[in-house]
Amino acid sequence: MDDLFAEMKSPEPSRQELAEGAVLLRQRALDVEDKLLDGVRQISHRAPFRKMLTPGGFSMSVAMTNCGRAGWVTDRRGYRYQENDPETGQPWPDMPDVFRELAEQAAAEAGYEGFSPDACLINRYEPGARMSLHQDRDEKDFQNPIVSISLGLPATFQFGGLKRTDAVKKYLLEHGDIVVWGGASRLFYHGVLTLKEGNHPKTGNVRYNLTFRKAY
Ligand code: SIN
Ligand code: FE2
Repeated sequence: MDDLFAEMKSPEPSRQELAEGAVLLRQRALDVEDKLLDGVRQISHRAPFRKMLTPGGFSMSVAMTNCGRAGWVTDRRGYRYQENDPETGQPWPDMPDVFRELAEQAAAEAGYEGFSPDACLINRYEPGARMSLHQDRDEKDFQNPIVSISLGLPATFQFGGLKRTDAVKKYLLEHGDIVVWGGASRLFYHGVLTLKEGNHPKTGNVRYNLTFRKAY
C-alpha cells in the first residue's frame, strides 16, 4: 500500500533550469487555479475560443482567445498582434489582476524582474490538438521573457534551440506548472505534442495554456 501511495503522490513544487534563461516552476500556479479557470471562463464568454487560420490557409488544431491590450491572431494575412478581436470587433477583455500578478511574480522568480505583459494568449487543447515547433517572434523586441502557465490535462512540451533542427528536450507539463523563457533562450523553438485523451478534475478533457508576452 505504501508504494501505491508513493506513486500517486503529486510531485512537489520545484524549480528546474531547462536551458540558459529558461526555468520550469512546477505547481507554481496551483494556489490560484480556480481564479485562473474562472478568468478563462469569463474571458471566453466575451471573446470565444476559435480555431484560427494559418497564413497558409490551414485551421489550427488549438482553439485560441486573448486578454489584455494586445491579442495574438493569425489569418491569411499573417501572424500579428491586434487590439480588437477580429470575431467581434471589440477590444480584447482586460487581463485579470490574478493573471498579471502571477505572470509577473513567476517572471521575477525566473530572474526577469520588471516584466509587465500587455498580451495573454489563451490556448485550448482538446485531445488530438498539437502545436508544432515554432519561435515566438511577433513581439516588437525580444528583451522580455515569455511566461507560460499550464492548466488541466498534462501535455508534452518540446523545448529545443535557436534552430528548428536543434535537438529538443521533452517535459511533461501538468496542471499548475509554469515555464518562463527569455534571455539566451528567448527565441528557442518549442511546441506541444498531440494531446492525449484524459479527464482532469478541474477542466475535463481539456488543457489550457496561458502565454504572457510583452507585444509592444
Ligand atoms: C505556445 O507556444 O503558444 C503554447 C505552449 C503551450 O501550450 O505550452
Ligand atoms: Fe509559443
